[in-house]
Amino acid sequence: MVFDIDMIKSLYAEFPQRIAAARKVVGKPLTLTEKILYAHLSEGTPTKGHERGVSYVDFKPDRVAMQDATAQMALLQFMQAGKSKVAVPSTVHCDHLIQAEIGASIDLAKAKDKNKEVYDFLSSVSNKYGLGFWKPGAGIIHQVVLENYAFPGGMMIGTDSHTPNAGGLGMVAIGVGGADACDVMAGLPWELKFPKLIGIKLTGKLSGWTSAKDVILKVAGILTVKGGTGSIVEYFGEGARSLSATGKGTICNMGAEIGATTSIFGYDEKSEAYLRGTSRAEIADLANGIKEYLTGDEEVYASPEKYFDEVIELNLSELEPHINGPFTPDLAWPLSKFAAAVKENNWPEKLEVGLIGSCTNSSYEDISRAASLAQQAVDKKLKAKSEYTITPGSEQVRFTVDRDGFLQIFENMGGVVLANACGPCIGQWARHGAEKQEKNSIITSFNRNFAKRADGNPNTHSFVASPEVVTALAIAGNLTFNPMTDTLTNEDGEQVKLDEPAGLELPTKGFAVEDAGYLAPAEDGSKVQVKVASDSERLQLLEPFKAWEGKDLTGLKLLIKAKGKCTTDHISMAGPWLRFRGHLDNISNNLLIGAVNFFNEATNKVKNQLDGSYGEVPAVQRQYKLHNIGTVVVGDENYGEGSSREHAAMEPRFLGVRAIIVKSFARIHETNLKKQGMLGLTFANPQDYDLIQEDDNIDIVGLESFAPGKPLAVVLHHSDGSEDKITVNHTYNEGQIEWFKAGSALNLVKEGLI
Ligand code: F3S
Repeated sequence: MVFDIDMIKSLYAEFPQRIAAARKVVGKPLTLTEKILYAHLSEGTPTKGHERGVSYVDFKPDRVAMQDATAQMALLQFMQAGKSKVAVPSTVHCDHLIQAEIGASIDLAKAKDKNKEVYDFLSSVSNKYGLGFWKPGAGIIHQVVLENYAFPGGMMIGTDSHTPNAGGLGMVAIGVGGADACDVMAGLPWELKFPKLIGIKLTGKLSGWTSAKDVILKVAGILTVKGGTGSIVEYFGEGARSLSATGKGTICNMGAEIGATTSIFGYDEKSEAYLRGTSRAEIADLANGIKEYLTGDEEVYASPEKYFDEVIELNLSELEPHINGPFTPDLAWPLSKFAAAVKENNWPEKLEVGLIGSCTNSSYEDISRAASLAQQAVDKKLKAKSEYTITPGSEQVRFTVDRDGFLQIFENMGGVVLANACGPCIGQWARHGAEKQEKNSIITSFNRNFAKRADGNPNTHSFVASPEVVTALAIAGNLTFNPMTDTLTNEDGEQVKLDEPAGLELPTKGFAVEDAGYLAPAEDGSKVQVKVASDSERLQLLEPFKAWEGKDLTGLKLLIKAKGKCTTDHISMAGPWLRFRGHLDNISNNLLIGAVNFFNEATNKVKNQLDGSYGEVPAVQRQYKLHNIGTVVVGDENYGEGSSREHAAMEPRFLGVRAIIVKSFARIHETNLKKQGMLGLTFANPQDYDLIQEDDNIDIVGLESFAPGKPLAVVLHHSDGSEDKITVNHTYNEGQIEWFKAGSALNLVKEGLI
């Protein structure tokens, strides 16, 4: 048993009283989302209602899950917190670093060798600090979480944007950055803006070629990639109850593609069956005991428009299969209109590769339905015309579908089974010929299809559909094929039609696995050594940042005045830099290399005030650091928008930038800066941005009486001898000012002060 039953028992014991209190303070019936959120307040029993889309609220999540790319910095930071054990059950999953090339066993062996030091580090930290460790090959984080850890009414955070997958089992599961994971593992509360609520009422029942994936493909078309921003999407209605738990997981997983904070379904008979089917009968029994708290109130679902901020209704009986893309997951085409769209838009008709599986669609149900089509291809003497790959989501699913003969069926059709890992979904795909950048089409049952995501080729037209539709199109080898209406010519020259796919939600013989790939942590980790080589390129232990020196900051140089958009990608680029995610010094060589310098409109070219030359931003900043000179970064509106990547705040801090002064901040980045002990300030008068000159020496004044709500002053010493004194605002509360003074929030945690 890898889940923590005592934690679930004590949480459920609190539900009736906390939810009754929530109903009282909110003054109306509650949605499921509200019940779970109010049951997880860090203060305990709710004492006041929170305004959706406005209030910032502290929560106490039950779990943390991390994938191997993001876990590195999260755990390096956690090691700074001075704790002997994580405060909440947490797990690490090795799935992102395995490259797909030849097939499961060869690719996995290669990855183990190539990433050995990262895996050794992650497993030793997990062992020492009490985290569950899922080895490379064990599976993809979200599928492993759904099978082992997700539970109705729970709340978790995960360092991956598809964490919402666990919403399929009734959990509020939210994707975050590593710094948030570190805080929760260190026992700190986790802050979230109380979300708005979108209600989606599902009526009718799926049939034939339509699957759960088509629900979210349709919803993505309605809401677009931005429609869910700041909202939690709650599904309800008889249609919702008719979907399998894993189908619900698929829908919640892809809710990330509409920008939703997360998505969720209530507890029902399908959730119960899945819990029992995955050896968690104990949780099902507990959940049955508090059923009414694990779904929204009846009044809410009877008149949803009164209780949700937006309501959408979908009839599953009328829903058509969909294909979305290319290049964006919200360009939704009903299957019957897709062939015409392909022709009109001149998209390559020939389908090169069909890829099924991933964290989004690799349940037993998905695989068995796709296999029913593959079997037909063999029986009806059809040869798959496209390449075809299968990515199982976990070793448990892989072992079970292998036992039940499905993998053999795929192989009979010419399919290649890849490792239980992200692979092509995250660009870990050594696709032969991709470097030629030819225009071509692929179709996947994954979730994202942005340009270059799968194979790095900007001309690959990537479409998203259900595993069933992907399989049918791979058999046909053509994007214009509609399996519901069209026939194919078989080896004997006969016209044959594919029958509707058929499958099973859960294996009749139950799930099985020989080695799930799980390593439990040591009971007492105090003697465990964390493995980091001193000459490693990819990993570096962190040193605590220095405390504030206790006086105003004077004589700072301007590093860069960034012009226009400056997202976390401009501040800390992704792509090849992902390799250095666990090495702060090395990854800092990408600091602000994407930002546009206001003074010369160039990227990665700033003036070095020490000698008047121009150089790359990180190199110039390292010169200042060498001379012990602090610097300032100036930015425009919404500085730091994009991801919650903590590197964008850690890198400037590490290289000696002392303050970021901007017209406005993206809030998550502003908080990340505060956590790293950095000054994040905003111009009281946005036009003062224009006063900043390239050769300025800058003082930040008033820090000795730094207090909430009290502005600071900035003196700009221009090279012509003139001066400007401007006012800058900040949003630091008392606790955050202490973070600044201590050098970082983690320094305070270490001292036991928070
Ligand atoms: Fe991995 Fe792709 Fe899912 S990167 S976690 S399989 S979205």
